Amino acid sequence: MIKQAIIPLAGLGTRLLPLTSVFAKELLPINGKPGIEYILDECIEAGIKEVVFIISQKKKMIKDYFYKDSFYKNLIKKKKDSRINKEYKKILRYKKMIKFVYQNKPLGTGDAVLKTQKLIKNNFFLMLLPDDLIIKQNCSKSMIQVHNRYKSSVMASLKVNKKDVSRWGIYKLGKKINKKNYLINDVVEKPSINRAPSNKAVIGRYILPKKIFTKLLNQKPGKGGEIHITDAIQSLIKDENKFIAHNFSGKYLDCGSMHGYINSNLEIFKS
Ligand code: G1P
Repeated sequence: MIKQAIIPLAGLGTRLLPLTSVFAKELLPINGKPGIEYILDECIEAGIKEVVFIISQKKKMIKDYFYKDSFYKNLIKKKKDSRINKEYKKILRYKKMIKFVYQNKPLGTGDAVLKTQKLIKNNFFLMLLPDDLIIKQNCSKSMIQVHNRYKSSVMASLKVNKKDVSRWGIYKLGKKINKKNYLINDVVEKPSINRAPSNKAVIGRYILPKKIFTKLLNQKPGKGGEIHITDAIQSLIKDENKFIAHNFSGKYLDCGSMHGYINSNLEIFKS
C-alpha cells in the first residue's frame, strides 16, 4: 500500500529569480492557486494519507502557509465569508496530513530523500518533485495502480527532444510490459547527447522502495557534487530490483523555469 508521499522543497529556485528572492517558488500562484496545492491535491486524489515536506530554514514560509492559521481564525471570528471559510477548511485538511523535515544544505535530491528515512513506514513510498506539474490525468494514481499490479518501483517517463537530454535523468529501457509500461535497464543523471541511452526522460514522480535509504547512506556525490536519487536508483537496478518506466498520459508542465512557469499558468487557465 502506498500511503505516504515525500516532497523535496528545499531548492533555491534560482531559475525563477527575481520571483524567488524572498518567496518560496512552490507558493507562487499558478492560475490563482499555489503550485504546491496542485501537488497535494494529486496526492489526496491518489489515496495518500501522509505527506512529508522536506524544507529548509530559508523556506520556512511554506510551513507558515499551512500552520500559522491565526490570521484565518481572527478573520472568521469577525465576519462570515463563505469563501474564507472554504479556504481555511482546505488549509486545515492539508495541515492534518503534512509533516516537516529539514534539509538546510542543498546537497541534492538523494540527500533530501535521506532526511525522511525515520518517517517512512511501509516498504514503498511516493515522491513528487514540485517543479513538475502533470494535469489532465492523475499520474500518481496511475503509477500506484501499476505498483499494485507488479509490486515494483515505478517512475514517470516522457519522450523528450534529443538535444535536451542533458536536462534530465535518462532511461535505457528493457522489456515491454504493455503499451504504457517498460522495465528499466539503466538510468543516467543528465547525460550528454553522446552518452544518453535514449530520449526517454525521468519526470518527477517516483514510487521508491524503502531500501533506497541504505544505498543513499553510502552514496558518494555524483554530477555537480550532489547526491542524486537517480544514482541510488541505478545502483538498485544493478542489484536486480525491478523498476518500471510508466508513460503517463497527462500533460506535463515544467514550472521550475520562468518560461515554463508562465506557460503553466496559461495551460491551466485554458484547461
Ligand atoms: C531532477 C532529477 C532528474 C529528473 C528531473 C525531472 O532534476 O534529478 O533526474 O529528470 O528532476 O524534473 P532537477 O529538475 O532537480 O534538475
